[in-house]
Amino acid sequence: MKLVNVITVLWLACVANAQWPLSIIDVLEKIGNETTLISLTKQAGLYDKLSGLGPFTMFAPNDRAFELLPKDVMSKLQSNKTLLKEVLEAHIVTDKVPIVDWTNDMLIPTMGGQDIRINIYDVSPMAITLTANGAGVVNPDCHAIAGFVQTIDLVMYPLINGTIMTEITSNANLSTLATVVSKAGLVPTLSASNGNFTIFAPTNAAFAKLPVGVLDGLLKNVTALKNVLTYHVLSDVYNRVGLYYSHTLRTVEGRNVTIKATSRESIMVNNAAVLTEISKTNGVLQVIDTVLIPPSMHFELVHNKDT
Ligand SMILES: *[C@@H]1O[C@H](CO)[C@@H](O)[C@H](O)[C@H]1NC(C)=O
Ligand SMILES: *[C@@H]1O[C@H](CO)[C@@H](O)[C@H](O)[C@H]1NC(C)=O
Ligand SMILES: *[C@@H]1O[C@H](CO)[C@@H](O)[C@H](O)[C@H]1NC(C)=O
Ligand SMILES: *[C@@H]1O[C@H](CO)[C@@H](O)[C@H](O)[C@H]1NC(C)=O
Ligand SMILES: *[C@@H]1O[C@H](CO)[C@@H](O)[C@H](O)[C@H]1NC(C)=O
Ligand SMILES: *[C@@H]1O[C@H](CO)[C@@H](O)[C@H](O)[C@H]1NC(C)=O
Repeated sequence: MKLVNVITVLWLACVANAQWPLSIIDVLEKIGNETTLISLTKQAGLYDKLSGLGPFTMFAPNDRAFELLPKDVMSKLQSNKTLLKEVLEAHIVTDKVPIVDWTNDMLIPTMGGQDIRINIYDVSPMAITLTANGAGVVNPDCHAIAGFVQTIDLVMYPLINGTIMTEITSNANLSTLATVVSKAGLVPTLSASNGNFTIFAPTNAAFAKLPVGVLDGLLKNVTALKNVLTYHVLSDVYNRVGLYYSHTLRTVEGRNVTIKATSRESIMVNNAAVLTEISKTNGVLQVIDTVLIPPSMHFELVHNKDT
């Protein structure tokens, strides 16, 4: 899927604004590409509430967004009303939140109790793109009488729960990273429930690709280990949309990483491919298939091992 449709310029208003829009459901019907969402609100028992006056702002995944959900997730939602309701409520805000009120890394509390993280990225001097928990906002600010429909191109699933550190310690593919983060003393930073971090998270397989002795060497030298790890951390949140529009990004270590992307699904950070994006309360993990070594340390870490 190309990103072209994600670009949102500041002055772009709702496409298909209703003339006399009333409820959120009325607006969804006018937009026309929200039939799955409307039928799911019925299944979840939220249709009547959203047919009322609100105020509500609905982050509304379009039909295509539901098609992009893995089939097993979709059937799980359809067979589990409690989960479906939870997921839909994580898309609904009981307030009016037009895009003019949005700021980068703002957290908007939802009806379900989870927050929606807003990010704003520069596409060019003339255009920005807006994301909500990493989903692109493709048709902003369709007015209801007391609220808005913000159409998004992905379903915000799974529900955001826990910190970056929770993910690192519970994800079986990141157990080497868990060891390394703990050794480097970065656990408190990544465990704070608030934060705006991006962590490029190498899988166990990525660590296993390092030349023999490098990981052991790092584990014996906390300074070097910290340098390598902080080269994997950004102090801003970059989801796939944000990465797509980036060329170089400054890491916490101080040096830049280079981003090359041909689509939201095909992103390289230096020589590492981004495999998965995982949103957490304090930022985002971009799981990568290769450990990033700061250029200045390459010789010391890799070449010295042979001598
Ligand atoms: C609905 O979405 C599909 C796929 O994104 C698109 O091809 C179609 O033109 C859209 N229809 C409307 C009415 O926006
Ligand atoms: C979040 O995770 C904790 C455990 O880490 C669990 O107890 C809780 O039920 C989860 N909440 C949701 C909404 O999934
Ligand atoms: C771990 O990696 C494998 C292979 O890439 C993948 O199939 C699996 O879903 C991953 N597990 C988690 C928890 O991400
Ligand atoms: C994250 O960024 C937002 C917006 O700039 C800011 O208000 C918030 O304090 C930041 N959070 C932390 C923990 O730095
Ligand atoms: C540990 O790593 C630092 C930073 O790379 C390096 O300057 C230092 O010489 C290393 N110490 C040892 C004992 O190898
Ligand atoms: C790092 O990237 C920033 C832009 O993100 C740029 O302003 C800066 O000059 C770069 N630094 C180096 C050392 O390349």
